[in-house]
Amino acid sequence: MIVDTHMHIFEAKYDDIREDVINEALCFDVKIMIAVGYDYQSSLRAIALANKYDFIYCAVGLHPSEVHKEKDISLSWITELAKNKKVIAIGEIGLDYYWDKTYIDLQKEMFLKQINIAKKLDLPIIIHNRESTNDCYQILKNNQGVKGVLHCYSSSLEMAKEFIKLGFYLGIGGVLTFKNSKEIKRVVENVDLENLLSETDSPYLTPMPYRGQLNHPGYTKFVVEEISKIKNIDLEIVKDVLFKNVKKLFKIGD
Ligand code: NI
Repeated sequence: MIVDTHMHIFEAKYDDIREDVINEALCFDVKIMIAVGYDYQSSLRAIALANKYDFIYCAVGLHPSEVHKEKDISLSWITELAKNKKVIAIGEIGLDYYWDKTYIDLQKEMFLKQINIAKKLDLPIIIHNRESTNDCYQILKNNQGVKGVLHCYSSSLEMAKEFIKLGFYLGIGGVLTFKNSKEIKRVVENVDLENLLSETDSPYLTPMPYRGQLNHPGYTKFVVEEISKIKNIDLEIVKDVLFKNVKKLFKIGD
């Protein structure tokens, strides 16, 4: 069984094809999916989708690129929404210095606040980190006692080892299948399977051979196949270990 640990198919662009996309995923052996919110409204939609399907779970949280739009900076809605049984993580949260550097302080403040909420609720965190690796690492290092995943991991092998030491998994997505993604291939090659999770980040980052088209959770299959190829480990063993990682981190799938 394959797990897509990070997708956003609650978005409107899937409205006409969502059923088909989900059925296709099941056909591709992608039998658990995690819908990840990025603000209040999207978190509600993630919950609604998870409530509709046994095999879909969800995460609620405020994405770093959305922090300046947030009206309730107490983020009390996160604790409220997390009462839903299908909510298995806080995310996606973190830092993003690629899109906007105007709100770095606010990004850090909201990241920290959500780490503390996750600790209080005893939930793992799903981290978005883009061109902010050093700050992200420092915050996690200074606020231990929470586990989680660095979604769509894109930093160096050296940093990967440091994040793993803090108890974090690396989320591996479609970028792994791109020819020029040398560093992430090096990460997958050199890090134990026990530290990896598979994901798509649908609708973004569609893997080969569908690069450039709309992403589907079913395409996690291509990511897992690439991991198997790079590590030269039998595909069924890769699926098995990645599924065990999911069970361990998110406490689902039993
Ligand atoms: Ni995402």
